[in-house]
Amino acid sequence: MTTQPRTHLVGDVVDLEASQAIARTVLDTMTLPEKAAQMTQVDKGAATPDQVAEHGIGSVLSGGGGNPSPNTPANWAGMVGDFLDGAKRSRLGIPLLYGTDAVHGHSNVVGATMFPHNVGLGATGNEDLVERVYRATAVETAATGARWAFAPTVAVSIDPRWGRSYESFGDDPELVGRLGAAAVRGLQGSRPDAPDSVLACLKHYVGDGGTEWGTASRAEWTDWWNGWGTQWHIDQGDLRADEMTLRRTHLRPYVAGVEAGALSVMASYSSWNGDKLHAHRRLITDVLKDELGFSGFVVSDWMGIDQLDPDPYRCVVMAVNAGIDMVMVPFEFERFIRNVVTGVETGDIAPSRVDDAVRRILSVKAALGLFDGTDEVSTDAIGTSAHRALAREAVAASAVLLEHRAGTLPLTADHILVAGQGADDIGLQCGGWTIEWQGGSGPITPGTTILQALRDARPGSRVEFASDGAFAPATSAPVGVAVVAERPYAEGLGDRGDLRLAADQVAVVERLRSHVDRLVLVVISGRPLVLGDLVDRCDAIVAAWLPGTEGAGIADVLTGSRPFTGTLPRRWPASAAQVDAPAGPWTPAWDRGHGVAV
Ligand code: BGC
Ligand code: BGC
Repeated sequence: MTTQPRTHLVGDVVDLEASQAIARTVLDTMTLPEKAAQMTQVDKGAATPDQVAEHGIGSVLSGGGGNPSPNTPANWAGMVGDFLDGAKRSRLGIPLLYGTDAVHGHSNVVGATMFPHNVGLGATGNEDLVERVYRATAVETAATGARWAFAPTVAVSIDPRWGRSYESFGDDPELVGRLGAAAVRGLQGSRPDAPDSVLACLKHYVGDGGTEWGTASRAEWTDWWNGWGTQWHIDQGDLRADEMTLRRTHLRPYVAGVEAGALSVMASYSSWNGDKLHAHRRLITDVLKDELGFSGFVVSDWMGIDQLDPDPYRCVVMAVNAGIDMVMVPFEFERFIRNVVTGVETGDIAPSRVDDAVRRILSVKAALGLFDGTDEVSTDAIGTSAHRALAREAVAASAVLLEHRAGTLPLTADHILVAGQGADDIGLQCGGWTIEWQGGSGPITPGTTILQALRDARPGSRVEFASDGAFAPATSAPVGVAVVAERPYAEGLGDRGDLRLAADQVAVVERLRSHVDRLVLVVISGRPLVLGDLVDRCDAIVAAWLPGTEGAGIADVLTGSRPFTGTLPRRWPASAAQVDAPAGPWTPAWDRGHGVAV
């Protein structure tokens, strides 16, 4: 009998010892190539179900936009199901784990409920709500047979220029940890082995939100084919900080997430004082696994190990020896399997390291109940009215009223002018990681725009809309609503040195201003934007973040059917100079915790 503690996660519900016993039994029957294949995660387009069967591959993923065509819930279930069946046909029939970026709902799927991105959930500060949101995300994800969400991101985002700021709950480690833990509980549910629970994945370990502008270090040999390297400025960069800062700020949410039972962690592309996390044995093995007692498995990020060295074999050796258990290859999986086998045969990788990795992967699969063989799914749970109502509630709770001149809100006028493309665009209100990796604009998935919702909420009012704010010269109304928006982005393609509201968006506000007595500015963005003198020219300013498909939540707070309760989850800089000095001591336009109640 070992003294191995029962982990935090599985607590009284799933017997971890039983899961580990299953893992040990299965492990004993595996050949070295089968173990290597179990450590492999391949992109759904890079292997067929037959290849999964042939090798006994452990995991398949959909990256951002990794969708079937046409992109429907039924086709998702079919696509995932074909891979699950492939694994069943492998020599040992070890069940496959299918992973996807369900980061604000099952966000690749047309018709799924898209919840606010994490920055908006951060503004709610409400862990009960966050748990319910992630529970619904789990239910929709599992409904397509995928039992692994690459979520939650628990980055503590210091610099809003980072293209992933919106994936973070905010700049406060305590808040991020608290809400990250709630997300884990929601995803994994009270019973991780229930068919509607999914494996959570804390990411990106560790310090991805603290990197410095100008230190992005995507390796050029991985980027030759797309030229992206030049667009990365801070994402995948270097955290330059002492260990105390690393622990107090960036490690803290992992402590909370592991305690909440998270059974997978994704390594970060970023570096700590120049050392890439994907090869960081001390942080992955000594700190995460040994010190924090993390008993799940660590997965690498998309081609993340390829950045370690120009030689693919060296990459595998470095990553596996650092403590990475599963590799998101995601393309050249046969080469990866060969390299693991060679590594063990030549003594570069200890057999016990491979056994440890596979044992971890298998015990998580057992904890998820995958060996029980029940994978019947029904896509009926996707985009339900109950989930959309929950999303609407979350959207309303996430809206932060930054400024308010008495008497402006709630909107009661019988004539309202609405301007800005963001007022009537599902894609813009969803942001990146929605249907496509970079997101999109227009009706990319069913939902309710803010304009539609305002019209529904004020059936007796005349609600006129001009996307560019250019109403006929004689038009005038007591109140106008300008909805300005950032264009969607994801990862380093959203790194942006200039956070001033784009000129075309400022122009919309200016055009509308001349037609109305009171002007309400609604800002759709993944991060604080420098609003300049618009602050003085608007009568109310609302940070709506990236609300997702249910724009009605914004209409609810604007029309007063729900109160404004959201507060800033991060500081909001007042000027471009403050943006350039993210850590600097300055007085923000609005501080963390700010939010006017109406
Ligand atoms: C991102 C991860 C994501 C993975 C799979 C990577 O580029 O950094 O957050 O989970 O791709 O799409
Ligand atoms: C994939 C994303 C991934 C990214 C990494 C994209 O092609 O769709 O999921 O995160 O590449 O660079």
